[in-house]
Amino acid sequence: MQLETDKRSSAQLDLLGKAARLLPGGTLGMFGLPADLAMVPAYGRGSKVYDVDGNEYIDFLLGSGPLILGHAHPAVVAAVQEQAAKASTFYFVNEPALELAEMIVSAVPCAEKVRFCSSGNEATFFAMRLARAHTRREKVLKFEGGFHGVHDYAILSTWPSVPYSSPRPQPDSAGVPKGAADTVLVAPFNDVKTTTAVIEANHGDLAAVIVEPFQRSIPPKPGFLNFLREITTRYGIDLIFDEVVTGFRFAWGGAQEYYGVTPDMATYGKIIGGGYPIAAVAGRAEIMDQCDNSRKGSGDYVYVTGTLSGNPVSAAAGVATLKELKGKNLYPRIHRSTAMLRSGLLRMLADAGLAAQVVGEGGVLQVVFTDRKVENYQDMRSGDRAKAELLFSTAIRNGLFMAVADKIYVSAVHSDEDIQTALRAFQAGIDAIAR
Ligand SMILES: Cc1ncc(COP(=O)(O)O)c(C=O)c1O
Repeated sequence: MQLETDKRSSAQLDLLGKAARLLPGGTLGMFGLPADLAMVPAYGRGSKVYDVDGNEYIDFLLGSGPLILGHAHPAVVAAVQEQAAKASTFYFVNEPALELAEMIVSAVPCAEKVRFCSSGNEATFFAMRLARAHTRREKVLKFEGGFHGVHDYAILSTWPSVPYSSPRPQPDSAGVPKGAADTVLVAPFNDVKTTTAVIEANHGDLAAVIVEPFQRSIPPKPGFLNFLREITTRYGIDLIFDEVVTGFRFAWGGAQEYYGVTPDMATYGKIIGGGYPIAAVAGRAEIMDQCDNSRKGSGDYVYVTGTLSGNPVSAAAGVATLKELKGKNLYPRIHRSTAMLRSGLLRMLADAGLAAQVVGEGGVLQVVFTDRKVENYQDMRSGDRAKAELLFSTAIRNGLFMAVADKIYVSAVHSDEDIQTALRAFQAGIDAIAR
């Protein structure tokens, strides 16, 4: 279906005007669309999302990743309705949270115990604190271009404008205290030599290495995660996998199962809440037990808590989502749809004579207009952004819902027909570039 932005009614444009008036930048966070592509979604069904005028889009944003079963999956809706009718929150241990914790511990190689929180941002913040307490060291090494949320120890060298030259991070946000930034070091992803040098020069201060095992859309080079496991073990540094995106997406056991490397701790969000707010830190019992309340006042107690942590409605949605994923073994389907979209895009880009890479796997793809192999942030940055923007904005105009020039999420409910429709929308974008 061909969608034109002029299909937005004056009522919808009024809502967008209200957003501009009431919300900074007219958005809820860092995600937004250019004014001519913006819309106000009203409801979703499976792979489709509908704006307030009823215009239909195939959704490749998927709520920024949680909606692996698409919108309003009947099993998730039923679980939420049942739990919401019983109780919305307790601030206490509850059955849905226990069931979710049991699933995480049974699925995830590093998970002996779980502490819930409400967002991926909190999860990485708490994991870093747990590592600092565990090792009695202060610093954390992250990778250039890696995203771990927006707290003061995370929003550093995620989108640096200056090419990498030293392990000192570049803050991406105003308002980050120098004291916080001084405790974070940076290395280029997939670069064994530089990472080794940074760790060897700082291991006495390093509490943790935190890594997205699949960084944004970039897979690890063979052996890179094993190298991180080996060097962190050698120096007694905690290895944290940020699995907020990859957890339960790449495989039942997430990236650690998929790539066969077990960290000390891992952070979860997105899929484990099935579209409702819940996140978690999971890891070795020795590390996680630092937040056991019986330690309060002992000097080695780590505060990890929150009013809605382990919320039963969110946990019930997560349990229902994970049961579907496992019960119906939806992983082969997600990988197959991703491969179909990827190979279609590659073929169309090659036919048009455009130098481009389609990076990613396991339900996450990104198009980068470069002839360089994309192995790290600087490779990603070398892409022609104007071309990517034209490709994506044209595809959005042709009925897709997604970010401009960013990741595409593929769900278990995208049909082959959805993928073919999406490829036609992208073809319109490729034609616009070639014109
Ligand atoms: C890898 C990763 N870590 C952490 C976060 C932060 O999660 P949240 O948005 O739930 O705070 C995100 C969010 O996209 C993410 O992709």
